[in-house]
Parts: sequence; C-alpha cells; structure tokens
Amino acid sequence: MKLGIVTDSHLGPGGTRVGAWHSEYYMSDTITAFRYALQRCVEEGVDGVVLLGDISNSGDGWSVETGVRLAARAGLPVWVVSGNHDCFERVEAVREAVRRVGARNVRLATSEGAMVEGVRAAGVSIAMDDAWVSRADGRPDVSWWGDEPVVWLTHYPLISFEETTREAGLLYGDELADRGEVLQPLVERPQPTVVVSGHVHLRVDSVAGPVLQLACASLVEPPFEVTFLDVEPGERQVSVRVENVALVPSLTVRAPTFAPPKREWVFEAGEWRTGS
Ligand SMILES: [Fe+2]
Repeated sequence: MKLGIVTDSHLGPGGTRVGAWHSEYYMSDTITAFRYALQRCVEEGVDGVVLLGDISNSGDGWSVETGVRLAARAGLPVWVVSGNHDCFERVEAVREAVRRVGARNVRLATSEGAMVEGVRAAGVSIAMDDAWVSRADGRPDVSWWGDEPVVWLTHYPLISFEETTREAGLLYGDELADRGEVLQPLVERPQPTVVVSGHVHLRVDSVAGPVLQLACASLVEPPFEVTFLDVEPGERQVSVRVENVALVPSLTVRAPTFAPPKREWVFEAGEWRTGS
C-alpha cells in the first residue's frame, strides 16, 4: 500500500501570512503549495492520500472546506484526520467539511479503518476535553482487526520525542493528553503498526516495540514536503519504505530534520530494524 501524506498545510485565504515555527519562513500562498502537493501524489501513483490535520491555519470553514474539496478533486481515495488548528473555531469543522463536500472518495479515518492492499488504514481525529484528546470513539479497537499490519493516522504523535526536540532548541508544543491510552493497544498487539503523525512539523522516526512512528515534516514551512509511505506485507516480514519529497527547494532556509529523506524499515521476528 502506498500513501501520499500531506500534513500541516495550514491553509488560509491568499495572502494570509502563516508560520513560522522552526524557521524564519512565512508562507503566504498555502493553497498553491497544497495543490502542488496533491498533484505530486497523483504523479506518484499512490493508492490514497492522507491529510494528517492542521489542514487549515485558523480553523475557518472556508479553509477547511477548500482543503477537503481540493483533495477530493485529486480523484484518489482520501483519509482525513483533524488537527488542533482545524478545531480553533469548531471542533467538528473537519467532519462537517467532509460531509458538506460529500465526495465519495473522501472520508474521516476511523479506528476500524479500511483494508488497502493487505494493510489496514485506520486513525483518529481529536476532541477537546480540557486538553486535546482522541475522540472517545477514536481509540484503537484492535478486536476489529486481523493479523494484518496497520497504518495508524494521527495528527499528534503517540510516541513522544519532546526531549530530542527540546535538546535541539526546537519547539515541540503540546501532547495528546491520552496519548498513552491510544498507544497501549498498539504496543500490546504482536503485529506491526506504523503510526504516521504531524503537528510537530519535524521529521523524526521512533520505535516502541511493534510500533514504528514516522513523524512527518510539514507542507507550510521548510522542508515543504510530502511523505510517500510504502508498506508491503510479506510472508514473514513487513517492509516499509519512506521517501520525503520537498516541493520547493529550500535555498536559504535550512530545515531541521532527524531522519534522512529516504529510508527503509523492516519488521521481522517481532522487531523493527532499519533496512538497507
Ligand atoms: Fe501544524
């Protein structure tokens, strides 16, 4: 299963100055960057596109809906989860936008998920309960799942890498308050799960038992990238190939990253190891 992951596009009406978290860069044409990212996914021939939240910068209805509508027009299956910025005006903004757009190829990720090429794509949107938490119906219900590998879609990381980030002098932001409860069933399951997350705008890989987490960098600031994730189930192992493609050459702004733009992971005999 090959997915094109677009996260933290922070869309706003043309000319809205958005950014900057890890750099001095401010984006003012987020819609064009988003269109270009979707086009790149189509060219890559992915099985589906994932929007990992912070589709919009301020959570306004126009921006969230424009993101969902443009993604629908790509003509590929699209899975969406909400990010904290999408919820600034209304917690249900993404759910409502998906309903309003009404495209058959666009749906919110669910904890039950959907099977694509032998891999289950499932995930969680967030809700507000004093702090950001997974929706009550968004915790992984592994009893629904079989022995297949799962890709878990979430705006917030489940494995914290706050220390790494802060040691590098970079922003980490808040955590999902019930992140441990979401992670637990994934760690206890013997089969592998690949968690893909946004929010921190940094490219970082982490492992916790059978869970491999790929934190993705953002579209709105350097390295302005899309992540292509290829998960291939085999007889005895599961192979994961990740490739990050920068849509704009970062000539003047250096982006902090903690993982190379191209890497492989293999899950075999209960463990993740980096591939050749
Ligand atoms: Fe973001």
